[in-house]
Amino acid sequence: MKFIDLFCGLGGFRHALEKHGARCVLSSDNDKYVAESYYLNFKDNPLNDITKILVKDIPEFDCLTAGFPCQPFSIAGHRKGFEDVRGTLFFDIVRILNERKPEYFILENVKGLINHDKGRTFKIMLNTLASKINGVENSFVHKDCLDYNVFWSVLNASDYNVPQNRERVFIVGFRNKSVKYQFPQQERLKNKLENIIEDRPNQFKQISDLSYKYIIKYLSEHNKYNEIKNLKYLVASEIRRSRVNFRFDNISPCLTTKMGTGGNNVPYLVNQKRFFTLKECLSLQSFPKNYKLVDNYSESLKQLGNTVVIKVVEKVFSNMIRYSST
Ligand SMILES: C[S@@+](CC[C@H](N)C(=O)[O-])C[C@H]1O[C@@H](n2cnc3c(N)ncnc32)[C@H](O)[C@@H]1O
Repeated sequence: MKFIDLFCGLGGFRHALEKHGARCVLSSDNDKYVAESYYLNFKDNPLNDITKILVKDIPEFDCLTAGFPCQPFSIAGHRKGFEDVRGTLFFDIVRILNERKPEYFILENVKGLINHDKGRTFKIMLNTLASKINGVENSFVHKDCLDYNVFWSVLNASDYNVPQNRERVFIVGFRNKSVKYQFPQQERLKNKLENIIEDRPNQFKQISDLSYKYIIKYLSEHNKYNEIKNLKYLVASEIRRSRVNFRFDNISPCLTTKMGTGGNNVPYLVNQKRFFTLKECLSLQSFPKNYKLVDNYSESLKQLGNTVVIKVVEKVFSNMIRYSST
């Protein structure tokens, strides 16, 4: 199977699909640091803006993958057609699907997409893509509808044996209307955060005295203070003067793009007095430990916060193969 890796970032989709024998024929991302990382690992240069890609220049492919940025629709819902999404990056996915009509697609986004603009954004997207949604005929089909058989669900990485609380909406599409897709079954979490945390990392970042004070202040006010204060894997995140979040269930908080904007957005191991390392972030997204990152700490963190969890995509994709051949 051939696929195109749009908004490719670190290449999470590419890793997952290649593990199942699929071959990438085009990658696109308009961020120069992303392109550098991608090149280091895949020897492909994805540096291009999707809005500038002409469909005629895209090689033949069977599957489109995209973890696209979420943007508001300025004229949402008025004309009930492609006009509703024109000018957004989602539109670029639509125009490629419309002209090439590949057999499959996989889209991924933050869970918040579902409630964005009181749910209208997501509804418009589904009505643009699907004549069938989660097995039910879509009664809002309009003239421009791409006529896909679409299934969507919110999946949390921690339900797939990855110790990170990362909820993402996955939308998968099939041209074949008779496919009855099932998202992967949840699994017991055996792989805990403690399996990912390095014993004695060579390089790690420490916290400022002031931020450490915030942690101690909010920790001492926590209603489980005595239970959690000495835990080896007590994690503080979103460290602010006004609040600090704690996790003490051996699962990491969600890694976010914000990690790239400053140290306090990187999860912090309270009793080891250090932030998560880049290697630990790679493992939490189920990237191989030897994955190469650009020599820029902030950009690497931003890319790591943006990426998909490879293991989750692998399971979603392997079920696509399974259910489309039954
Ligand atoms: C949420 S991230 C996708 C991450 C990716 N799925 C991964 O596995 O790492 C969105 C990506 O879209 C890229 N992007 C934003 N605008 C773009 C555009 N106009 N053309 C191509 N890529 C774009 C960003 O640079 C970012 O890497």
